[in-house]
Amino acid sequence: MSDSRITVSLVEYVEGAVRFYATDLQELERRGLAYTKAEVFYNPHMRSNRDIAVAVASTLGEGFSGADVMAASGVRVLRLAAEAGGGRLIANDRNPLAVYAIRKGVRANELSDRVRVWMMDANEASLKIRDFGRVDYLDVDPFGSPASYVWAAVQAVKRGGVLAVTATDTPVLYGVYPAKLHRAYLAWGEKTEFHKEMGLRLLAAFVLRVAAMYDLVATPILAHATRHYARVYFSIDRGALRALNAFEENVGWILYCQRCGWREVKRRSYPPEGEVCGFCSHEASLIGPAWLGEMQNQDLLSRVIRWSEEKPHWISEEARSILRALASEVGLPPLYYDLDAIASRMKLPSASPRAVVEELESRGFRASMSHCEKKAVKTDARLEDVMAVIKDLARERA
Ligand SMILES: C[S@@+](CC[C@H](N)C(=O)[O-])C[C@H]1O[C@@H](n2cnc3c(N)ncnc32)[C@H](O)[C@@H]1O
Repeated sequence: MSDSRITVSLVEYVEGAVRFYATDLQELERRGLAYTKAEVFYNPHMRSNRDIAVAVASTLGEGFSGADVMAASGVRVLRLAAEAGGGRLIANDRNPLAVYAIRKGVRANELSDRVRVWMMDANEASLKIRDFGRVDYLDVDPFGSPASYVWAAVQAVKRGGVLAVTATDTPVLYGVYPAKLHRAYLAWGEKTEFHKEMGLRLLAAFVLRVAAMYDLVATPILAHATRHYARVYFSIDRGALRALNAFEENVGWILYCQRCGWREVKRRSYPPEGEVCGFCSHEASLIGPAWLGEMQNQDLLSRVIRWSEEKPHWISEEARSILRALASEVGLPPLYYDLDAIASRMKLPSASPRAVVEELESRGFRASMSHCEKKAVKTDARLEDVMAVIKDLARERA
């Protein structure tokens, strides 16, 4: 940071209802530096992430308390105050330049009475919040993995409050690096045809596991995999027994066949052994522990969608369309089907997801497109049924 070759001026940006200050991205580009080199980080492509955060936080009611323990420019916290009605908010970052920029943003938006600015390590900030007054909403939004921040963050949220966790180490969560996945998230996983949903479910089970250490229950209430990140919102509750029940009812294992794409979920705490594919009898891979319950809370999602649709001037169309897509997935079983992968194994042309959804519905199944994978569908049909639809659609087109 003290490297004079990297120092770039701060400029004013506008997002939603606020003005804020961050490294000049155009100047960075002119100097051939990646946006990740920004001293005060701002990623405009993460706007949908912040839009949805603001919309979720708005459901906590006027005057809610909240924190972004890795705030960078502070844009998220400023928006929580200006758009979602947040009252007692904390923007923390360990980077002094970020803290300077946040303070400037707080003054520019006249939010000094509602936003306090801290400069310390994120875990220290979470523990300070735990000790001096838990918050209704806490955001963990690091570079890369959130794994080492979750233990402190879960303790900083009030009962009934919301913890939001972003992971940008998606190659790890999506099974490209199984050893690293195990190390960081205590989970087994590998490359699959449903890697984005797998990543969300492994992240959810990890946070539930960590929360349980403190007799807390972290129940997923909204989750999406967008661009290069995975994001899960949790409702935080207390109770050792509730934590145990959450595990027994909703955490388990995914069996997956690398050869034919077959998958099955098993709701149980201990890993199944020696399982084979139910379709081609090849040895099945074991993935988990994974959250196998509902990832979206329908009631919350409806409120978030309603609020967002009334605020198109703040909440981007990208965010609103993610939310609508999530609503269409509610109630469908885990793990989408990747139509390109299935069709390619069948040596057939792939099918349009919309056509597959319509055909599955006409055959009596429930189905929807996937919010995170363009060429995938979610359905209660089995792999064989999806294959039959792909085959029939290919025959019709021939
Ligand atoms: C991805 S950015 C946060 C973006 C911001 N939340 C937003 O919505 O625009 C990550 C930030 O975390 C800060 N950071 C990294 N490690 C930290 C730590 N251990 N404690 C506090 N801040 C940290 C970095 O300085 C950086 O500003």
